[in-house]
Amino acid sequence: MRFRKRASPTPIPASEITPYETYLSRRELLAGGTGIALGAALGFGARHAAAEAPAPLAYVRNAALSVSEPPNSYQDITTYNNFYEFGTDKSDPAARAQSLRTRPWSVSVGGEAEVTGTFPLEDILKGHALEERVYRFRCVEAWSMVIPWVGFPLGDLLKRFKPTSRAKYVAFKTLYDPKQMPGQSVRILDWPYVEGLRMDEAMHPLTLLAVGLYGKTLPNQNGAPLRLVVPWKYGFKSIKSIVRIRLVSHQPPTTWNETAPDEYGFYSNVNPNVDHPRWSQARERRLGELWKRKTLLFNGYESEVAGLYKGMDLRVYR
Ligand code: MTE
Repeated sequence: MRFRKRASPTPIPASEITPYETYLSRRELLAGGTGIALGAALGFGARHAAAEAPAPLAYVRNAALSVSEPPNSYQDITTYNNFYEFGTDKSDPAARAQSLRTRPWSVSVGGEAEVTGTFPLEDILKGHALEERVYRFRCVEAWSMVIPWVGFPLGDLLKRFKPTSRAKYVAFKTLYDPKQMPGQSVRILDWPYVEGLRMDEAMHPLTLLAVGLYGKTLPNQNGAPLRLVVPWKYGFKSIKSIVRIRLVSHQPPTTWNETAPDEYGFYSNVNPNVDHPRWSQARERRLGELWKRKTLLFNGYESEVAGLYKGMDLRVYR
């Protein structure tokens, strides 16, 4: 592991910032106009062009919900990834995720809600002010980072679909397309990747739908164009490249729990007192740091989220 100099968050001049919807519709115009010519010149059909380059976003920094620890570098966050759809090495997603086409993109919303259907990404994002939130991110493999995400609360989106009283959980699904995601041709996991949250976890103000990091749209390897971020849970709960959100009455299956139920529970809250059966969770290696840190209960978000689990034995509901 090489240690790199940390980059400071780069404030982007307001003149360079494009609100996400404007950015998307501009891409749409390009795809119908000059983009075709450019795409053809480059040897791609415009709609099948290679990955979108991360583009600046308009956002407001949410200092109250951000940690004061320095963020990891853009380089670390975008080259040390878990995204098994593109391979199992940490460097595979950055090297291979360019085959994922994130435009056009739609998300289907269904289940126990009054409003359901398949919505273009632009409609999903409409009306949501983007915030930058610097969160701790703790992987179950005992490494961690600090990431300046850009996104909006998942709860604000869910409210728009008017969940019924039967909606007790939310289930998420990643795109399934082995042509774009070559790792899906290998049955290491039961594709597509799926995840879930209890309704109150999904509605918690810290639970974010991220569309960007470091002020720009997400690179493919980080789960473009839309991924979940649940900062008090192990990183695998933060499902990438979401195409379906379902409100459901029963606890939904989740990929790692189905793959290895003895090792990964449904809740997967960061907990230094409950070890993984094969390694300790007491400490973590923060990328870029020499000495291991103590892992904090709920990843340091205890005062905000412990109430969600009142009366639950965290060894049983792990
Ligand atoms: N989502 C999908 N669809 N596929 C994956 O393999 N890996 C998970 C999670 N979301 C994964 C996923 C794991 S194990 C982690 S630690 C985080 O994504 C990594 O997010 P990052 O690469 O942005 O740091």
